[in-house]
Amino acid sequence: MKILSGIQPSGKLHIGNYFGMMQPMINYMDKGELYAFIVNLHALTTVTDSKALARDTLEAAADFLALGLDPDRCIFWVQSDVPEVTELTWILSNLSPMGLLERCHSFKDKIAKGIAPSHGLFSYPVLMAADILLYQADIVPVGKDQKQHLEVARDIAIKFNNSYGETFVVPESAIEENVATVPGLDGQKMSKSYGNTIGIFLDAKELKKRVMAIVTDAAPVEAPKDPDKCNLFNIFKLFAPANRVKEVHDLYVNGGAAYGYLKLELVDLLWEYFRSAREKREKLCADPAYLRAVLAKGAEKAREKATVTLDLVREKVGLKY
Ligand code: ADP
Ligand code: TRP
Repeated sequence: MKILSGIQPSGKLHIGNYFGMMQPMINYMDKGELYAFIVNLHALTTVTDSKALARDTLEAAADFLALGLDPDRCIFWVQSDVPEVTELTWILSNLSPMGLLERCHSFKDKIAKGIAPSHGLFSYPVLMAADILLYQADIVPVGKDQKQHLEVARDIAIKFNNSYGETFVVPESAIEENVATVPGLDGQKMSKSYGNTIGIFLDAKELKKRVMAIVTDAAPVEAPKDPDKCNLFNIFKLFAPANRVKEVHDLYVNGGAAYGYLKLELVDLLWEYFRSAREKREKLCADPAYLRAVLAKGAEKAREKATVTLDLVREKVGLKY
């Protein structure tokens, strides 16, 4: 089974990204042939700072490796290092009805946010379809927001197969329904666009500042409180061992939960939780040549797979003469 997923190199990772995307993706290494890549061509649709894009691409690679992705047990590369994907995008563009793309929420949401409606932004889902179909992926784990893009990829695959004969695997999405949404400092979904995140790799001082800023109610320590409604508890339970979660849960219910102390405990828990990843990441970031070598090797493996599909596609559509 081939499992494929891409992530945008969009800056500093937060604990929502970790539980929602990185951890599930890393776990997929044990479940099949994993294709994991950094989608810098997609990022071009919104990022115009070239230095930031280059830096964030390398940092995203360091993040993944530090958190446990093993490049020997998966194919891990940067999207633009396999240029076959852009040729396939063009070919698929001709089977992508305007109406299908016009209905995509993500395009509409982005222009509503003020992003200029470029052709790249509009055809984002076609590039994503090419990403998936080029590697003949069976399963694509994505967040709910990407479900529609998966539908587009399936539609295009089916249309191609009907027009030119069986060529592509029609991919299935694996929506991570059971992955809880991690709340942010203010209790809304943690998201960089809300400015309510706790970064995974903050320095000690900044980490403490963020955790102390978690919003709690004004109930006194001895008052009984509902743990499930408290975003401090909801974050705390992701990091504390089960017996401590139970103890703190009981303190909430029976009275005695002191937010200030729990926050300090959470700072320590977070620091320890990501300690070895942080140390690994520091070493990786100090050795960009190593990171580039890992990515180059990954791209080579990916490209081997990509050329097989693209060769077939060229033949099917009449580009071989
Ligand atoms: P952000 O909302 O901070 O911009 P992205 O949209 O770049 O984050 O999300 C990248 C990945 O992280 C997606 O797969 C998304 O589902 C996951 N993710 C983001 N925020 C959360 C969260 N608060 N809880 C769970 N998963 C999240
Ligand atoms: N659009 C996805 C996102 O923003 C990223 C992505 C690009 C992707 N190509 C992909 C995800 C292929 C899965 C498969 O999260």
